Amino acid sequence: MQNSWWRETVVYQIYPRSFFDSNGDGIGDLDGIIAKLDHLADLGVGTIWFSPFYASPQRDVGYDICDYRTVAPEYGDLATVDRLIQAVHARGMKVVMDMVMNHTSDQHPWFVESRSSRDNPKRDWYVWHDGRKPGGKAPPNNWNAMIGGSGWHYDAPTDQWFWTQFLPFQPDLNYRNPEVQAEMLGTLRFWLDRGVDGFRLDIVNALFEDAEFRDNPFAWRLIPSDDDPRMLFQGSDRTLNLPETLAFMKELRRVVDGYPGDRFLVGEVNAPIEMAQAHCCDGHGLNLVFLFRSLKAALKPATIRELVSEYDRLFPDPLIPTWVFGNHDRARRISRLGGDMARARLNAAWQLTARGVPFLYYGEEVGMVQRPIPARDSQDALVLRMQWVPQFVYDAIRSLMGESINRDECRTPMQWDGTATAGFCAQGVKPWLPLPDDLGGRTVADQAGNPDSLLECYRRFLHARRENPALHRGDLALLDAAETGKDVVGWRRTADGQTVVVLLNATNRAHTLRNPAPGGTLVVSTDGRRTDAAAPELVLAPWEGLVVRTAG
Ligand code: GLC
Ligand code: CA
Repeated sequence: MQNSWWRETVVYQIYPRSFFDSNGDGIGDLDGIIAKLDHLADLGVGTIWFSPFYASPQRDVGYDICDYRTVAPEYGDLATVDRLIQAVHARGMKVVMDMVMNHTSDQHPWFVESRSSRDNPKRDWYVWHDGRKPGGKAPPNNWNAMIGGSGWHYDAPTDQWFWTQFLPFQPDLNYRNPEVQAEMLGTLRFWLDRGVDGFRLDIVNALFEDAEFRDNPFAWRLIPSDDDPRMLFQGSDRTLNLPETLAFMKELRRVVDGYPGDRFLVGEVNAPIEMAQAHCCDGHGLNLVFLFRSLKAALKPATIRELVSEYDRLFPDPLIPTWVFGNHDRARRISRLGGDMARARLNAAWQLTARGVPFLYYGEEVGMVQRPIPARDSQDALVLRMQWVPQFVYDAIRSLMGESINRDECRTPMQWDGTATAGFCAQGVKPWLPLPDDLGGRTVADQAGNPDSLLECYRRFLHARRENPALHRGDLALLDAAETGKDVVGWRRTADGQTVVVLLNATNRAHTLRNPAPGGTLVVSTDGRRTDAAAPELVLAPWEGLVVRTAG
């Protein structure tokens, strides 16, 4: 158990629509992914997580599913998935599918049936309730959806309300119904039987709601954070993180544990970090949970030290933290770092050497930045539902919070080369989302082979991590700031008789310090030209991060 592969892996997230278009419709597809797998094998990641490619009306780019056991035609079909799984496995990598258990599309035949009449056998597959006032004209209670605003929607023909935790076209399944549980666990088995190695579970802390439909409490909080989803003066006690949901994590775990090969679950749990951890049920629930505090963490020595130590403390063996700096919902990390490649290299060094499972987001390895897209040209359903919001509000949020509400901006096509389509699709084809006006060398072709590039830095760290047990399975002890100087963060990791020291200079000044591992061997550095780190005094360049293996 302690050495399960998933504890030691590095996960790379592919957004299928944006990775590579193999058939000229401007939309990425599964054959396109197969064609590009060597890039990932060379990069050195161990596991690929695919955002959903199931049948879907694509109103939330696949997070609105209308058949969990088929594939959207623009991506391929089941036979293509089988080939994809085989091709990934043939390269020694693993496959993680995205599973949206909380809700379906409102086009799913289950929901179409469910809303057709109050006594339809599928009625109770979703969360329906009478309205409060006579004539049912007020929602059943005060529950807000995760994205703000009441999550209740009135259905006139049957005179009841249905609940959505996310967008109005994503009705929540009713997990109090054993049929729903059985069906969804069966869906996991369907894919496990096809050979997938794990699942990423979408908003999995939202599965159950209060059985008595009691109001959510008042909360002194307007704007949510990555640690605390309470907002618009409302808590989420009755709609998120219910004891029933936590207990169900163990059911899910039993399903994956019933298969050979250490399959695993990673959950998206938007909650305070202790609550996210609680979904691991002391090692009997989710294997991993995403930790989102890192997304916006400053790239400063004190912040890095604090986060590394907190994650380590809250996720002691057999738990293990995750390191997430970006995904398909959030502003790209490098854009929060001013687009700067040197900072991005140091950030990679941090992510790939701390104790925990790193999650990379496609394009991060070449420094892809946010592509600003005006709200009126957006396809993201979160933006479409707020079309009355003037553009300057989006701009203000971007500059005040460093965050983009328009998720299209982090979902643009993968930048393979410097051609007009960035090598994502054939020349002359229009990609489904626009590319940046200037790729600025942030492409695979531009960076491959150049030791100063971000791409080669990722490669070096990923390979070093793979080859050195201390880096992929070691325990972690922070070095004292008195030892490293306050500008440098350091930690020591040990496993299988090997000890390495990680040193990160998280400032724009060079820094000299007493080498904590004198006479040691350089394992890897963000500086692709550095050859040793044995001297008693070490000089770290601005934003340099390196790993030294101790002598003996
Ligand atoms: C998760 C996904 C997001 C999706 C939402 C609803 O937060 O990451 O992309 O829109 O759930 O499924
Ligand atoms: Ca295509």
